[in-house]
Amino acid sequence: MLDFKENFLIFFLYSLKKIRVGREKIKNKEQPPHYLMRPEVYYLLSQSQNSLVDSIYKNGAGKKGFVCWFTGLPSAGKTTVAQKVFEILKDRNMLVEMLDGDDVRQSLAKDLGFSRQDRDENIKRISFVSKLLSKNGVGVIASFVSPYKSQRDEVRSRTENFIEIFCAAPLEVCEKRDAKGLYAKARRGEIKNFTGVSDPYENPESPEIILETHKETVEESVKKVIQHLEEKFKHVQS
Ligand SMILES: Nc1ncnc2c1ncn2[C@@H]1O[C@H](COP(=O)(O)OP(=O)(O)OP(=O)(O)O)[C@@H](O)[C@H]1O
Ligand SMILES: [Mg+2]
Repeated sequence: MLDFKENFLIFFLYSLKKIRVGREKIKNKEQPPHYLMRPEVYYLLSQSQNSLVDSIYKNGAGKKGFVCWFTGLPSAGKTTVAQKVFEILKDRNMLVEMLDGDDVRQSLAKDLGFSRQDRDENIKRISFVSKLLSKNGVGVIASFVSPYKSQRDEVRSRTENFIEIFCAAPLEVCEKRDAKGLYAKARRGEIKNFTGVSDPYENPESPEIILETHKETVEESVKKVIQHLEEKFKHVQS
């Protein structure tokens, strides 16, 4: 028969082990076991604005990073929809970052052109940044033509929670929009390797989301993306 002291020691050691297990879980962005913290409490804490809680659960920890990857022909509506999604998530105090083709071509990929090799290198660099961000709990909103399936699959395999969003407006619509006047230049032969005109675009085979940006309004497209995120991630609630 164990005496009181021995019972107490066993209980104490058992509690320490439980706390260690709980800490590990939180560190791995998983919910601690129910006997340590009720799910409602964990959820409330992980959503709280309290600065102490923030340092534990926010700044990445406790949140799932993801990559919303908008792909499609030039002028298909990638940037337009991505920008609005980004603003909505930011307004919800989420950790988000936007990576857009035009900005990246002016900075991270300034030295690259539009040959197949350079396009692959461009996506490799973006993939590297997206991987770092998503791994640390950031929601990445990325908008790139990314015409080749192999490029998109590579990003999918390297990043956390990759969501492929196909802006499916057909060539005729995109060319008519010609938001930057580049189709006209490409048709006049002033730009080489222009996707849709003199370079291929491989349609995604099974994207998570298809946006029919030629049939729906910008608001409808944005809503589709936000709804998908809300269903998939608890921390994207409004
Ligand atoms: N439903 C829609 N979704 C998105 N854009 C739309 C939609 N309807 C019309 N548009 C218009 O289409 C144009 C799309 O331009 P945008 O710059 O977003 O394309 P993009 O795919 O980012 O092109 P690029 O690859 O050249 O950067 C904008 O002028 C936008 O207002
Ligand atoms: Mg764009």
